[in-house]
Amino acid sequence: MDPILEVKGLVTQFFTESGVVEALDGINLTVYPSESVGVVGESGCGKTQTAYSILRILASNGKIMDGQVLYKGKDLLQLTESEMRQVRGKEIAMIFQDPMTSLNPVLKISDQMIEVIAMHRNVPENEAREIAIESLAAVGLSDAEDRIDEYPHKFSGGMRQRILIARALALRPSLLIADEPTTALDVTIQAQVLEIMKDMKEKYDLALMLITHNLGVVAELTDRVHIFYGGRVAEVATTYNIFTNPMHPYTIALLESIPSLDVAKGRLATIPGSVPQLINPPKGCRFHPRCKYAKDKCSKDIPIIEEKEKGRFVACHYWEEVELSDLAEDVIGQHKAKQKASN
Ligand SMILES: Nc1ncnc2c1ncn2[C@@H]1O[C@H](COP(=O)(O)OP(=O)(O)OP(=O)(O)O)[C@@H](O)[C@H]1O
Ligand code: SF4
Ligand SMILES: [Mg+2]
Repeated sequence: MDPILEVKGLVTQFFTESGVVEALDGINLTVYPSESVGVVGESGCGKTQTAYSILRILASNGKIMDGQVLYKGKDLLQLTESEMRQVRGKEIAMIFQDPMTSLNPVLKISDQMIEVIAMHRNVPENEAREIAIESLAAVGLSDAEDRIDEYPHKFSGGMRQRILIARALALRPSLLIADEPTTALDVTIQAQVLEIMKDMKEKYDLALMLITHNLGVVAELTDRVHIFYGGRVAEVATTYNIFTNPMHPYTIALLESIPSLDVAKGRLATIPGSVPQLINPPKGCRFHPRCKYAKDKCSKDIPIIEEKEKGRFVACHYWEEVELSDLAEDVIGQHKAKQKASN
């Protein structure tokens, strides 16, 4: 099967007064139809800018310098701006990192949904209104017929996030990019929103690119994971393999940094050392200042991401020497127990 999305060698940079930010340095990423793919890594590793590069909505000081973004086989980087407008929303929808600012406070929900549905789905406004109400009801908004005419401030954070999911899905995209869809929400609401995302994904047979630093969410919702570090991809594997047999030292450090795989607690704690600055980033492997396996070669040569086992891609010179710590074993044990309980 061909991927629905294939990002190849994506290089994105930002031009600032202090220098060039090498935000994405050769990102490769694939999402297959109906698949749910996690994009995981610490703050500043390039998750959001990858999504923005795919949709070509970078800030004005950002530029895509190289690479391809193949969507259904077509390179989005070669499309005109008006062709690109047909892709955004209708083909690829995105839920943004901050749900509080994604809805315009001075417009009713109806005004923020109906027009865009009518345009993208090519239906009259009354039909678009019906579609909007249906999709709000599908994400659990009761009295959607009346509440659609309310303003965003009438809704809680969790409800607003549901509205954004409904708005994205009402356009029937083939691919949904969700950037930290639950991070801004409190714990009980997080679980409800995740449940809705799961239902919607199945109902509409969506492909999902889920950006998060919550490994509990990843374990729960994704089939495959891309681990990002410092604007590069460190490891790609099935979610099961990431949690039971991680190969990259950074992936192991991530597992060690979570106290529990519960969604409520699965956020990353601190990994020793700090995330790299992407103006003049470390040479060679960008993880080398924090890596306990680092040797001379690591500060000189960039490790190329390669398929080490079937479907398992790792960017590390010394991946064969990596061992699991007791802490990592603990998380692996939790994951296996959870899997067993849910089967
Ligand atoms: N407009 C900009 N100008 C300069 N640098 C930028 C700009 N936007 C993003 N960056 C830099 O690009 C890098 C990647 O940022 P990105 O937003 O993709 O991080 P992220 O992985 O989404 O992090 P978080 O988990 O905090 O959301 C960071 O170093 C960030 O500072
Ligand atoms: S290449 Fe070297 S520094 Fe980078 S992860 Fe592997 S061992 Fe660590
Ligand atoms: Mg981000």
